[in-house]
Amino acid sequence: MSSPAMPYFDILLSRLAATDSELARTLGRHVHWGYWADPLRADRSAAGYAQAAEAMTLRIAQAAQIAQARTVLDVGCGFGGTLSCLLERQPSLRGVGINIDARQLRRAAGLCAQLGPDRVAFVQGDGCRLPIADASVDAVLAVECIFHFASRLRFLLEAKRVLRPGGYVAISDFVPFGPTIPVLALLVPFFERAVVQVYGRGNMGCTSLFYRLLARQVGLRVVCDEDITDNTLPTYDALARLSSHLGEHGPAFACASAWMGRLAKSGLLRYRILAFQRPNS
Ligand SMILES: C[S@@+](CC[C@H](N)C(=O)[O-])C[C@H]1O[C@@H](n2cnc3c(N)ncnc32)[C@H](O)[C@@H]1O
Repeated sequence: MSSPAMPYFDILLSRLAATDSELARTLGRHVHWGYWADPLRADRSAAGYAQAAEAMTLRIAQAAQIAQARTVLDVGCGFGGTLSCLLERQPSLRGVGINIDARQLRRAAGLCAQLGPDRVAFVQGDGCRLPIADASVDAVLAVECIFHFASRLRFLLEAKRVLRPGGYVAISDFVPFGPTIPVLALLVPFFERAVVQVYGRGNMGCTSLFYRLLARQVGLRVVCDEDITDNTLPTYDALARLSSHLGEHGPAFACASAWMGRLAKSGLLRYRILAFQRPNS
């Protein structure tokens, strides 16, 4: 199974191996944007970012009604931060993490080792072909990774297949604002190279309306579609500061992150949490 090019993970894994503690505190557990309830008073320090990343996880999990779940599948599980955060808080919860990249799974297994093998497992797999039995989990999460998948439709079909009737799938995604897509398209040649060089190729073209059409096609009910862009904006300052910890990769990382920040702050690229329910019948 070949992993798509995601240079930011090559950078993170090599720097984390060099035990950069500031980087480990910021992106060593969760590799996603933060959520600040009060973005104007955001703590952008490493500790503040870690707290905001944990808050983002909890919001997405809440959209999947995690409090009612006994089993959760975390697709594109990164370093295991989502499962670690949820299983530590909810002792009756069991989880499986899926990732296409075996190196990340090894770090995830280490991070979650204290939870024990009867509560958590990590399996290499593709988000569009889940190695999971039909109707076997209560909740599916895909935190900030669906844009890397070959097809959102295939992922949602798979999520529906593995969910028990009545179960929920929740995701977060970078979602373009429909009416300004032509402006975003005009800007692509300016930012594409810088962003792909660090974050790899991703499909950030799925609007909120298109998600509704996908859900209808798959047979999932939309239960949440929330724009939380403003709450994520301090992420970009935190990432800019962090670039000084990335050695020779710092300038490219700063440039790619600055472009993502411009697109978000101008309102062209929104950050949304979406959740869907598999109907009971
Ligand atoms: C931005 S990271 C998010 C990681 C994690 N969800 C988190 O929030 O900390 C994107 C993740 O998607 C994973 N990924 C990319 N393509 C994938 C695929 N086809 N199947 C499963 N995971 C994939 C990457 O390896 C990476 O862990």
